[in-house]
Amino acid sequence: PKIYVTDWSGDTHEIEGRPGATLMETIRKAGIDDLAAICGGCCSCATCHVYVDEAWLGKLPDREDDEYELLSDSVHYQEQSRLSCQIPLSDALDGLKVTVAPEE
Ligand code: FES
Repeated sequence: PKIYVTDWSGDTHEIEGRPGATLMETIRKAGIDDLAAICGGCCSCATCHVYVDEAWLGKLPDREDDEYELLSDSVHYQEQSRLSCQIPLSDALDGLKVTVAPEE
């Protein structure tokens, strides 16, 4: 699926993801370092925080409790906050738009 990622400078990158890979892995692989993802995807760092475009929110799997807890501790928490390491890509997400959240 094709995904659109807006970085801290406001530039939007169009990147091609692989079904089954997580959104976090896909963004990192594309070289967008604003998304630090320091825990490597084990849902413990919250440095893979993104804002999901409203139109796409309902198409994603629900947030698990641990994901919500990490996110809600963030000063940048918003309704459309997600941890990108908890979002597996699929062809149903072709066109997904996200913005990398500001640094903690
Ligand atoms: Fe650490 Fe997602 S990479 S919580």
